[in-house]
This record gives sequence, structure tokens and C-alpha cells, in this order.
Amino acid sequence: MHNRALITGVTGQDGSYLAELLIAKGYEVHGLRRRSSTFGTGRIEHLIFGESPQLQLHYGDLSDGNGLVRLIREIRPTEVYNLAAQSHVRVSFDQPAYTADVTAVGTLRLLEAIRDVQDDTGEQIRFYQASSSEMYGKVLETPQKETTPFYPRSPYGVAKVYGHWITINYRESYGLHASCGILFNHESPRRGETFVTRKITRAATRIKLGLQKKLHLGNLDSQRDWGFAGDYVEAMWLMLQQDKADDYVIATNELSSVRDFCEQTFARLDLDYREFVEIDPRYYRPAEVDLLLGDSTKARTRLGWRPRTNFPQLVDMMVEGDLALARQEALIQGLTPSVRKAA
Ligand code: NAP
Ligand code: GDD
Repeated sequence: MHNRALITGVTGQDGSYLAELLIAKGYEVHGLRRRSSTFGTGRIEHLIFGESPQLQLHYGDLSDGNGLVRLIREIRPTEVYNLAAQSHVRVSFDQPAYTADVTAVGTLRLLEAIRDVQDDTGEQIRFYQASSSEMYGKVLETPQKETTPFYPRSPYGVAKVYGHWITINYRESYGLHASCGILFNHESPRRGETFVTRKITRAATRIKLGLQKKLHLGNLDSQRDWGFAGDYVEAMWLMLQQDKADDYVIATNELSSVRDFCEQTFARLDLDYREFVEIDPRYYRPAEVDLLLGDSTKARTRLGWRPRTNFPQLVDMMVEGDLALARQEALIQGLTPSVRKAA
């Protein structure tokens, strides 16, 4: 059968890596994009321009259920990857109802659209839900695995718990081939600039080139299990290739703190983070998630998945990407010879 995928959230970090992966595997790939006043396609430009674009974009929104039905009827995908979300934890405290509408109920709208079209056509549509380690929140067990109970600590975490359980409910009630990937934090040079890792690599490289003086952060003590987004999208695809749908934790099983990330990033640039990082309470959260550490044994044994990038390699990759950006920025600004030399 011809493989045809629809990716929601295709303009985001994971969407861009997943689109590349599926194109490389010979899929016909479609992506959902929101209307915005700017292009917003920076991460996927290499896939949508040229004589024969490899990725076909469609306007749509997870808040528009009718639009989703229409789109799925038109595209007739064999696989749907639901990566779209209001995905920022801090922002979810400022926009809790919006986050619930998109991240939680949006998942339900998409599942309903799939159920409708699948019932009409009789063709199976496999579904992937982007669940999150943020659901473990104030963790009840360490490391966290598929059986660890959830204790979300943010409106985003609560919304993801709904998305997770409604996906399982549709699997059990209607026999949908629907799987949830409980992904721990994953980063890349394409990571949004307001997430902490990218904020650090972006600032440190700009500081190195004299484009910025300080980096303001919140809680340096929180600990995460950070992996590389390019490795994690392979796990999404693997889940949909199984005969039976199921849920899997995807993680590196290694822990680092925000402070460690700062230290390593600045050290690679021969800088001491303590001279540049300042604490700004504005970046504290009303309720914090102190520690997330995954146990991905199930994915490793059943899917044959494993991460290929370790923490130092991830930091290197992100520093390199942001150094290139900072150099361009410095050149555009037309700088003094001494700064150009440092670049
Ligand atoms: P991201 O970079 O923030 O991308 C989110 C995507 O969702 C963007 O394409 C965004 O479009 C789209 N979107 C937002 N609201 C939408 C709406 N109402 N309708 C349609 N599309 C909408 O996130 P990511 O890091 O790639 O993460 C992908 C998914 O995995 C998300 O669901 C996230 O919550 C989840 N997740 C991420 C991690 C992680 O560490 N990265 C870990 C666990 C789970 P615009 O480009 O127009 O904003
Ligand atoms: N964003 C941000 N900005 N976080 C900061 C800052 C800052 O200035 N200073 C400290 N932190 C701390 C946060 O308080 C949090 O404990 C940690 O750094 C990580 O923050 P983020 O990078 O924003 O990620 P997150 O863990 O809250 O959420 C990400 O991972 C989830 C998976 O667990 C997002 O990608 C979610 O979409 C994803 O589900």
C-alpha cells in the first residue's frame, strides 16, 4: 500500500525532523500549518520549495474540527502524527484555557475526524499521539516508565494527560491503531528559542561574539533527561509500524541539570557561565517539575529503538548551530574588526 502521512505541527521542531524521515522512507508527506501573518516555515523551507516539493502543506488548526475531517477525507492518510500543541509549559500558566482547547480537545477533534473517515472508507488510519514526560510532573517514582502514575504540575501537563487517555480510550473503544509516545525532553539546533536549552546556546554564542552581555534564567536546579529530536522521531515512526498499538517511554535514561547545561555550553566556548548567567524570578513557574528521568527499556526491547546522540554531542550540535547564526548576525550588524576576529 502507498504510505501517506499527515503531520500536525509540521512547522515545529519535531515536525520538521519527522517530515525529513518519512520523505527519506518514500512516504507521500502532508503537513498541517496554521495561518499566520508571517511564513512560519523556516524549519521546513528545504522541503516545500523547488520544482517538486517533497512536503505538501495544508491550512488547518486543531481548534477547527470540521476542517480536520475535510482534510483527512481529502488526503486519505495511512498514518497521522499529532505533534501540534501549545507546547510551552510556562506559557500554559498564562493561557490555560487555550492550552486545554488545542493540546487536549484538539487531540479529541483529530481522533474523531479519523474515526469518521475510517468508518466511511474502511481504510485503517494509524495514529501517533505526542504525549509528554511533563505528565509525570511531581514524580511518584524514579525513573519514570509506562506504568508510573501521572501527577501533572502545569495546565500543559494536565492537557497532555487528557490527550494521552483519550487516545487510549479511542484505541480500546473503537479499535483504532493509536499509540502514545511519552517523550522526555528532546532538543536540537531547531529547538524553539524560548525553551531553556536553546535559550542557553543562543545566548552563550551571542555573548561569545559580543552581541549580548547577560543571560537571564529561572530555576537552574531542575533536572531533565535531554535527548536529540532527530533520534526521537524515529521512535514515533517505529510505533506505527507495529502490528499492535501501544504506549512507550522514549528517553536517554540520563539526567542533567539546567546548571550542567549552562556549564557545558559556556565551557565549549571557553567561558565561565557564572560570569554571565543571572537569575530572574520572572522565569520561575507557579509549580515546578524538579526532576524527569525516563526508563525507555520497553521501547529498546520491543521497538529496537535507542538514542544515538549523547548529552555532550547534543550540546556540541546546538552550540555549533547557534555559533553559525551568531556569526551571520555579527556580520550583518557590520562589526568592529576585533569582534570579527573573535568570530
Ligand atoms: P513545537 O516546536 O512547539 O511545535 C508545535 C507545533 O504545533 C508547531 O508546528 C505549531 O505551529 C503547531 N501548533 C500550535 N498550535 C496549533 C494549533 N492550534 N493548530 C495546529 N497547529 C498548532 O513543539 P515540538 O518540540 O516540536 O514538540 C512536538 C510535540 O511533542 C508537541 O505536541 C509537544 O507538546 C510534544 N512534546 C515535545 C517534547 C520536547 O521536548 N520537544 C517532549 C514531549 C512532548 P506554529 O509553527 O504555527 O506555531
Ligand atoms: N523555558 C525556560 N526558560 N525554562 C527555564 C528557564 C528559562 O529561562 N530557566 C530555568 N528553566 C527551567 C524550567 O523551569 C524547567 O524546569 C526546565 O528549565 C526546562 O524548561 P523548558 O526547556 O521550558 O522545558 P520543559 O521541561 O518545561 O518542557 C519541555 O519538555 C516537555 C517534556 O517533559 C517542552 O518541550 C514540553 O513541550 C515537553 O512536553
